[in-house]
Amino acid sequence: MDILLLNGPNLNMLGTREPAQYGTQTLEDIVARIGALATDAGLSIEHHQDNSEVGLIDKVHAASKNGTKYIIINPAAFTHTSIALRDAMLATGIAFTEVHLSNVYKREAFRQQSYFSDIAEGVISGFGAQGYEFALDAAITYIKEH
Ligand code: DQA
Repeated sequence: MDILLLNGPNLNMLGTREPAQYGTQTLEDIVARIGALATDAGLSIEHHQDNSEVGLIDKVHAASKNGTKYIIINPAAFTHTSIALRDAMLATGIAFTEVHLSNVYKREAFRQQSYFSDIAEGVISGFGAQGYEFALDAAITYIKEH
């Protein structure tokens, strides 16, 4: 697998979850679009959404064994809480982009703290579902250059 797309807790509720904050596209819509764009670029992509920390950590561990070249991750609320998921990203050393649908810097102070931003290649926040497309573009460039 070239790219692993990971989505954290409550993102399975996209479409109906706080649409003013997160938009009206469902996760299935987003994954279908990103999957099609990755295929057009000649890259394979796997998607996994998990509401639990352990499920996300296990996927990151698996990525280090199956040749994954890049991770696009929206850790959702775990962004602000999970040293364990941060450590998993560090343990694998796979380059990644942190994505948020909303602009976390316009929101509550606790959302402005991330356990991932300082170890990510880059962060995309506030562009809704389009943020995943920007992240995919960055992943394609990264893979071509490495
Ligand atoms: C989010 C922002 C987080 O603060 C929040 O907990 C989420 C979604 C976003 O995509 O904007 O669940 O990661």
